[in-house]
Amino acid sequence: MNQKIRIAIDGPAAAGKSTVAKIVAERLSYIYIDTGAMYRSLTLKALDNQISPNNESALADLLNVTMIELKPGIEGQLVYLDGVDVTKKIREASVTNNVSEVSKHRLVREEMVRRQQAFAKDGGVVMDGRDIGTHVIPNAELKIFLLASVEERALRRHTENLAKNYPSDLNQLQKEIELRDKLDSEREVSPLKKADDAIVIDTTSLTIQDVVNKIMNFANERIE
Ligand code: CDP
Ligand code: CDP
Repeated sequence: MNQKIRIAIDGPAAAGKSTVAKIVAERLSYIYIDTGAMYRSLTLKALDNQISPNNESALADLLNVTMIELKPGIEGQLVYLDGVDVTKKIREASVTNNVSEVSKHRLVREEMVRRQQAFAKDGGVVMDGRDIGTHVIPNAELKIFLLASVEERALRRHTENLAKNYPSDLNQLQKEIELRDKLDSEREVSPLKKADDAIVIDTTSLTIQDVVNKIMNFANERIE
């Protein structure tokens, strides 16, 4: 029987992590875990409860009474917060602009990592985020670090917004992405960082298919 490996995909905002992670998981019949959606869900609940993104102990208490579920849907993964579908809501600007503050706290990260490790324990998982290869699954069989220029990443989000008829300002998007990358890379607890043994793929001029093919080749080499 084929070994069910664990694939960690990290990288900065809009590098294409969730897009390719979903396709790779589908191809391998593995589960896909979007860890960013977990931090976004807690951020949404904190905002709804007027809890400051700086209040570590209140956020940790809130997380302890919060259920976050990731379930497959017809058009992709659905995210449930305490039983309510928040898949769309967690992508709103108010959440995006506060999520890095919420995610910087040690007590928040410890509990999130504990939950993520439970998802990964049996293998057969593709997990994407910022600290998957360094902290969540440091012994993953395959670690990928996706990169793309910040101009390309802002353009990708802009194109996505226009396709959905959402208002979108390319310069503003680039500034928001730069700020989030800075906060995520400079925080003290498990910052965004390439694991020493991660394979770097610069996707700036690659198609989604190119990136998926590269990752599938690496995965197949590791699946016995
Ligand atoms: O998809 P996008 O790049 O916009 O971000 P995301 O993957 O949904 O993650 C949202 C935010 O959650 C990131 O900017 C990080 O602040 C935080 N995050 C984290 O700290 N650690 C993770 N493993 C995943 C996300
Ligand atoms: O998860 P992350 O924030 O890293 O990125 P994403 O949510 O997957 O968004 C990346 C966007 O860039 C999507 O709209 C993709 O269609 C597009 N894209 C990509 O992911 N990879 C490429 N090589 C080219 C475009």
